[in-house]
Amino acid sequence: MAETVRPLIAGNWKMNGTSAELPELKRIADGAEGTRSNSPYDALICVPATLVDRAVRTVAGSPLAIGGQDCHGAENGAHTGDISAAMLVDAGAASVIVGHSERRADHGETDIEVMGKALAAHAQGLTAIVCVGETRQEREDGVAMDVVDTQLAGSLPKDAAPENTVVAYEPVWAIGTGLTPSLHDIEAMHDHMREQLRERFGAAGTRIRLLYGGSVKPANAEEIFAISSVDGALIGGASLKSGDFLAICAAMPAR
Ligand code: 13P
Repeated sequence: MAETVRPLIAGNWKMNGTSAELPELKRIADGAEGTRSNSPYDALICVPATLVDRAVRTVAGSPLAIGGQDCHGAENGAHTGDISAAMLVDAGAASVIVGHSERRADHGETDIEVMGKALAAHAQGLTAIVCVGETRQEREDGVAMDVVDTQLAGSLPKDAAPENTVVAYEPVWAIGTGLTPSLHDIEAMHDHMREQLRERFGAAGTRIRLLYGGSVKPANAEEIFAISSVDGALIGGASLKSGDFLAICAAMPAR
């Protein structure tokens, strides 16, 4: 039986957002503020690296945390255009997404590189949100769980713990498509992943938060959050609009 963990509702703004969107971020922070005293979840928005510093200042004093979307595995050095974990911390980030499928696809990131990024994040005190998920072809071929097992085993570092790691299951075919797996399939995958985490990390593995991501919207959040092995969501498109993001937050039941 998995322990109850505090849910996390995280937004991923991807390559969207300039200073013009800071007022929208402020509206998210203000909305999250309303639930501060008895909030049943943690809230986070992962903004483009250029916005982290201003985003942190924009939401200061609210319960909304700010994160980055990627970091390099090295501490520093000759990696033009890359961002280190220390830079994100310096800008005020609390978390960083690593191994998002868009980075795995666009930049050929491998599990071992993703593990290096998670380690770099941990070394700087950042929570690493490690993303895994199968393609449509892999699901049709019946190997979704095998693919996710391999990604989990290869991407999660030895030091992964509930305090420094979140895992996001994001089926590639559900991202930005309006498609989602059936509730049964989400539950089956999350239960399976929970078991993998428990086998590898023992009791701590039952407390690492497991998020679902891929076309989470206000219309489907409640039924997805009703799955007990879903500890929150990683939200792309619907996190860009304060109304949608806050409606998803409101769908999170007290646990
Ligand atoms: P969408 O919510 O737009 O499908 O994106 C999900 C995602 O990739 C979050 O990281």
